[in-house]
Amino acid sequence: MRRIGVLTSGGDSPGMNAAVVSVARSAALYHMELVGIKRGYNGLLRKRPNINDDMQVLDLETVLDIADQPGTFLRTARCIEFLNPDVRAKAADDLKEMGIEGLIIVGGDGSFQGAMALCNLGIPCIGIPGTIDNDLAYTERSLGYDTAVNVCINAVRSIRATSRSHDRVAVVEVMGRNCGDIALRTAMCTGAEIVIVPEISWNVYKVAERINQLMKNGDTRATLIVAEGVFKNQSMEQFSAYELLSSYDANYQKIHSPNEPMNAKTLAEVLRQLCRGCDARATVLGYIQRGSAPFAYDAGFAFEAGNLAVKLLRDGVTEQVIGVRNGRVYYLPIREALAIKPAFDRELYNLVNSL
Ligand code: ADP
Ligand code: F6P
Repeated sequence: MRRIGVLTSGGDSPGMNAAVVSVARSAALYHMELVGIKRGYNGLLRKRPNINDDMQVLDLETVLDIADQPGTFLRTARCIEFLNPDVRAKAADDLKEMGIEGLIIVGGDGSFQGAMALCNLGIPCIGIPGTIDNDLAYTERSLGYDTAVNVCINAVRSIRATSRSHDRVAVVEVMGRNCGDIALRTAMCTGAEIVIVPEISWNVYKVAERINQLMKNGDTRATLIVAEGVFKNQSMEQFSAYELLSSYDANYQKIHSPNEPMNAKTLAEVLRQLCRGCDARATVLGYIQRGSAPFAYDAGFAFEAGNLAVKLLRDGVTEQVIGVRNGRVYYLPIREALAIKPAFDRELYNLVNSL
């Protein structure tokens, strides 16, 4: 191949820039021209009047200082139009016309579906797993996950300092979409006493029981890490907790309707009601989890994955995704990777909630 492209898609993740830089350096080494495609699959749709707003040749000088920058300088976006087969067919034709013979896609499972569709249209694609969520079952780590966890660890340590000063319980919400990996890892690494994840059903009364027990044993600043996904899939326990809120204070009924999804703040309110003497407060960590420069693990993974992706295209191996297995970087067909079912580590989950 003489000309290949690279794009970042879905939510940005720490290490995306480092991966693009590794792709650029590898392409230069193997005498290929590299085109950076902007804003995910949108950059393939020729929506902007000036082609330079959608694509940019990436030589070594262009990417010189971006590897350790947070975010993705290529920009990223979701692209609803790309779900349309006609739009994808046009994008594939345009790529062929421009002489772009292969594509490297840094993104999550949705982006990989797009990559698979492009492969079926004759565009060789390689995927690099770029998402903080770590929700791709075929790989032990996705790019950005480790950095996001490190950000969460630092944040929880700061929150704990003030929780300890005030003898308060901290409810800390972390990201992860429908995956509890960031929450579990953060909880383990900070010694949090409770973790709640979307993969495992939970009960607010059990959480309250645990907090009461901890307080009885002298732990007046317990930390509860909650994955955002638990509030997306509302369970009966959460609804009954609302009823509990309104039964304690009629005013709450006006503020929180039982049909309104529960969130970290209302969970803290419920815990204040259920645990005598517990002043629970909530913090939602939000986008800071995505906005850090990559820590060592992600920077190293990006370096290896970027090179492997270019090598695979060079050698004519296509429709693959790169991942980590037994601590080593490896690759497998996209279709196989996406078929692997996620398995949550219940043992570690139980350990956090019982130690
Ligand atoms: P992620 O890649 O992080 O999982 P999304 O699920 O939002 O993020 O997907 C990113 C983009 O990938 C979508 O906006 C769309 O352009 C493309 N995509 C997602 N699913 C498909 C699909 N089934 N077929 C083709 N393209 C898809
Ligand atoms: O997939 C990464 C992620 O940060 C999830 O953890 C989160 O649910 C989602 O993206 C947020 O997306 P947006 O950037 O559209 O708010």
